[in-house]
Amino acid sequence: MRYLAGLFLALLTAVLLWKVLGPGPKPDPVPEGGFVSSQQCMDCHPKVYEEWSVSQHAQSWINPEVNALSNHFANTDCIDCHAPQDLFSTGVGKRALPRADRRAAGVDCLSCHRIPEEQGGGMAGTNTNLNAACRPQIRTELARVEFCGSCHNQHNTVDQWSASSFAIPGPGFKDCRDCHMPLRTGPGESGRSHLFHGGHNIELVRSAVALRAERASNEPTRIAIEVENHGAGHAYPTDERSRASDVFWRPTPEDPEAEGGWRHLYRIRDPYRSEVDIPRTLIDAGETLELDLEAEETGGPVQVALFYKLTPYYRDPATGIARPLEEVHDPETDARLVWRVEVPAP
Ligand code: HEC
Ligand code: HEC
Ligand code: HEC
Ligand code: HEC
Ligand code: HEC
Repeated sequence: MRYLAGLFLALLTAVLLWKVLGPGPKPDPVPEGGFVSSQQCMDCHPKVYEEWSVSQHAQSWINPEVNALSNHFANTDCIDCHAPQDLFSTGVGKRALPRADRRAAGVDCLSCHRIPEEQGGGMAGTNTNLNAACRPQIRTELARVEFCGSCHNQHNTVDQWSASSFAIPGPGFKDCRDCHMPLRTGPGESGRSHLFHGGHNIELVRSAVALRAERASNEPTRIAIEVENHGAGHAYPTDERSRASDVFWRPTPEDPEAEGGWRHLYRIRDPYRSEVDIPRTLIDAGETLELDLEAEETGGPVQVALFYKLTPYYRDPATGIARPLEEVHDPETDARLVWRVEVPAP
């Protein structure tokens, strides 16, 4: 009897020990044919998938602006980063190369995470001891700025960051992920946001800059304006090709509903390679642009405003032709207001 009870106890202990210390539940099997599309990630990573699918990364092939400028990718140079091969195949930090399949998915899960079989296969992650169907492997390159740089240094964003104080190790250090992939804070939602907010998100743009306008006390018609880039980890606005930001002003309209009346004061932009006579006027990280405004109407109350443009030019809605900036009096129809400051009469 005692012998049997001992045997039973030993068995029970073994079973319990196996439960606690043995391998966890078996991972779901790898789908037949391997991982070949981002849809396959949806069931197990629903939050990431949902965020990514509304991000610009998911639009990069179908984006109408990109299609217009690349002539629907007849300019094949544009395929490289807008439908890239998996970065772990081309090499993290190396410039992206064009891929032939699943182009409509743009910059998808596989472009960033899939590891080729020669390097062990599975998906690149940064956590230890994960046992899952997608076979996560630790690849710390995923968390480096060079990873984003494979596509984002075309227009110098990574170089601008490297020259900023955000790149200095210490308490002020912030990398691309800290600002563009913030840690999720919702209950039970660990990991980093895949929304990748950028210029399309006006709240993020607002967090980049401050606008100040003040009347000089000794010269009542002179208004001193400052635009400070305190929140972007690179130049404001980054990306030479598509973005511009403009400072406008107007005498405070008596009828606030009245149309127009804005006057262009200054353009903040990095000219694209075809724009030869335009100077680079970007505000580097941590820098402040100082402007002076003095005109006949600046003796009374004045409004100063900063606008952000996703496409560089203000176009005539009828002809589509770019309007000279001095003829633009209605920036709000084509650009988004970042900040507006009221300067009262002296
Ligand atoms: C080396 C990588 C790379 C290549 C090559 C490339 N792009 Fe891009 N493109 C990007 C990145 C990264 C962004 C987004 C970041 C930014 O705005 O700086 C972008 C953004 C854009 C945007 C802005 C989209 C929007 O909705 O705001 C347009 C338009 C665009 N690209 C057109 C093109 C065209 C046209 C070509 C070919 C002549 C091209 N790109 C080639 C990387 C690339
Ligand atoms: C059958 C379920 C399943 C599928 C399908 C799946 N995964 Fe996973 N994956 C998991 C689980 C479970 C983990 C580990 C826990 C976690 O991070 O959620 C994981 C972890 C990861 C990690 C590592 C996270 C880290 O913190 O290091 C990455 C990256 C990843 N998956 C990417 C993908 C991608 C990309 C796809 C689609 C091509 C995919 N997974 C498909 C279940 C799945
Ligand atoms: C532009 C590149 C890029 C794309 C596209 C992308 N990821 Fe990520 N992903 C990252 C980076 C970078 C991290 C963060 C690594 C770190 O800091 O730990 C990450 C983290 C993750 C993690 C870890 C857990 C979390 O939520 O942070 C999972 C899982 C994951 N990605 C799955 C996916 C899936 C699924 C898709 C497609 C729906 C996808 N990723 C698309 C770059 C990307
Ligand atoms: C494989 C190429 C590639 C990689 C790697 C990549 N991106 Fe992008 N990213 C793009 C392209 C292309 C776009 C523009 C898509 C469009 O608007 O058509 C873009 C757009 C963006 C935007 C702009 C969103 C907006 O509102 O205009 C942000 C922010 C961004 N990426 C951040 C990152 C960060 C941070 C990383 C690194 C973790 C990263 N990307 C890695 C190709 C890439
Ligand atoms: C300290 C926070 C911070 C850091 C660090 C940072 N960014 Fe940004 N980023 C911003 C803000 C704020 C904006 C919006 C204003 C602007 O365009 O400059 C922005 C805009 C962008 C855009 C959108 C440009 C567009 O055309 O829509 C891209 C792409 C981008 N960042 C990529 C990166 C990459 C890549 C890195 C890492 C090398 C990085 N950022 C580091 C805060 C940051």
